[in-house]
Amino acid sequence: MRNIFLIGMMGSWKSTVGKKLAQKIKMEFIDTDDAIEELMEMKISEIFYEFGEKKFREMETAFFNEKSKQKGYIFSTGGGMVLDSLNRDCLQNNGVTFFLSATSETLAKRIHNTTKRPLLANEVDLQGRLEKIWQERKKYYMESSKFVIETDKLNPDDVMNMIVDELGHSIENN
Ligand code: S3P
Repeated sequence: MRNIFLIGMMGSWKSTVGKKLAQKIKMEFIDTDDAIEELMEMKISEIFYEFGEKKFREMETAFFNEKSKQKGYIFSTGGGMVLDSLNRDCLQNNGVTFFLSATSETLAKRIHNTTKRPLLANEVDLQGRLEKIWQERKKYYMESSKFVIETDKLNPDDVMNMIVDELGHSIENN
C-alpha cells in the first residue's frame, strides 16, 4: 500500500484527520512533529529555541526523506514540510498527497495551542500572521498535492470520508 500524506497549514486538521483515517483504513500513522519530538527527546518549541528554525527544517527533511521511502504509512506532516524541495519530491513521488486547505480566518479560529507552533507564539494578530505564511507557501502546497480538500465548511470526519472516497476512486482507476 502506498503512503498517504496530509499537508497543509497549521490548524488544517492534518493530525486529527490522519489519526481518524489510520483507524478507519487500518494503516500505521506517523505525525512527523511527534516523531521528531520523540527522536530528539525535546518539544518542537525547544528545538526552535535551542537550535533555530533552520536546524528544525534539516531534521524534518532528514526524517521525512528516510521514512517516506517505506510504504504503508499515513503521514501528517508539519505545516512547513513543503518548504524544502526534497520534501516536495517525496510528497509527489512516494505516495498520494492530500492538501487540507482552509482560509486564514478559519485556521486562526481553530488554533488555540501555540506551544507546538513557535512561529505563532506571542502573536497578537494570528490571522494576519497565518495569511502571510500562506502567501509564502501556497504554491508549494499546490504543487506537492494530488488532491485538495477545502475544509472550511467541513468537520474532521467529513474530511476523512472524502479522503476515503478519493482513495477508493483512485484504486478503481488504477
Ligand atoms: C510549522 C508547523 C508545525 C510544526 C512547527 C512548524 C510550520 O506543525 O511543524 O511548529 O512551519 O507551519 P503543524 O502544522 O502540525 O502545526
